[in-house]
Amino acid sequence: MSDLILGIETSCDDTAVAVVASDGRVLSSVVASQLEVHAEFGGIYPEFAARAHISSILPTVHEALKKANITPDEIKAIGVTRGPGLIGSLLVGLNTAKGLGLGWNKPVIGVNHLRGHLRSADLEQKRVKYPATILLVSGGHTFLAHMKSAIEVELLGSTTDDSVGETYDKVGRMLGLGYPGGPVVDKLAKTGNASIPFPRPVLHKDLEFSFSGLKSAVSRYLEAHPSADNYADVAASFVEAVMEVLIKKSERALRRYPSKSFVIVGGVAASPQLREAAQKLCKSLEVELCLPPLRWSTDNAAMIALATFDYVDLAIDKKANADLQLTIKDF
Ligand code: KG4
Ligand code: ZN
Repeated sequence: MSDLILGIETSCDDTAVAVVASDGRVLSSVVASQLEVHAEFGGIYPEFAARAHISSILPTVHEALKKANITPDEIKAIGVTRGPGLIGSLLVGLNTAKGLGLGWNKPVIGVNHLRGHLRSADLEQKRVKYPATILLVSGGHTFLAHMKSAIEVELLGSTTDDSVGETYDKVGRMLGLGYPGGPVVDKLAKTGNASIPFPRPVLHKDLEFSFSGLKSAVSRYLEAHPSADNYADVAASFVEAVMEVLIKKSERALRRYPSKSFVIVGGVAASPQLREAAQKLCKSLEVELCLPPLRWSTDNAAMIALATFDYVDLAIDKKANADLQLTIKDF
């Protein structure tokens, strides 16, 4: 039997716990969603997020163990998101992990949330071939990275302001589409014409991103056209601008850093428009496109458990506990 790790992820609004084997097999992945808690706010309300984690964390741990059909004795370690994220939410996960680690006599390893996303494409089956170029597009982050191996990460360029997901969410709100904006804006965009010339921020500026100017341009357009009924065209024009920037920068990175795989992770990787544009790009560059199944694109605990395997032996050698892990430079 391969080693097992229990992963805990509470960096934002979902309480997630998973049991993953060292070969990437997911024995269980349980998520207690808070969508209903935050729906009326049109975004995440941090205080409510932390409170909801407190009530759901232990039942979610028990369910994950039950679904995996294992006892705590059978796990090698607990991996828990140590940041970045909402501090109140993170503390619930970290302190639960520490308590369980003490009670079960298991090491607790703090994992960078972004490292979890970077490793998510290898869940269930090994997909990524190194060296790889990775585009991470989530609600909290947007960046390009180059990975020589599962643990050697070089950050190539990131957003200097808003992330793509955040921009989608804000545009969704401006169009009265609710939260999260990504899926609904993409859907509406498919029915419109990309006829509005929104800017392509910092398109020519190497590998950095910026999306706040695009968000403001959409807001100004809507202010200048208060009776506009062409919301589908606004959505289509916005999505086209986002895709052009993401694909252009990804192409630049792939040409500069020869790669066997181009990997897209994070919630926005669920975008059908992005998936289609990436397919075309990879075909033209003859690079293998690696898109994890949608359930591993958005936040989950299985990716945290998988990333924990990269450190577990080192951590156990050092007789680790969560405090010690906070000093491990993993990104
Ligand atoms: O990775 P994720 O689940 O959470 C963070 O770590 O932030 O990403 C959430 C983001 C949200 O901003 C959401 O609007 C976006 O992913 N998203 C999408 C789509 N589905 C989710 N964005 C564009 N198109 C989608 N289909
Ligand atoms: Zn995330």
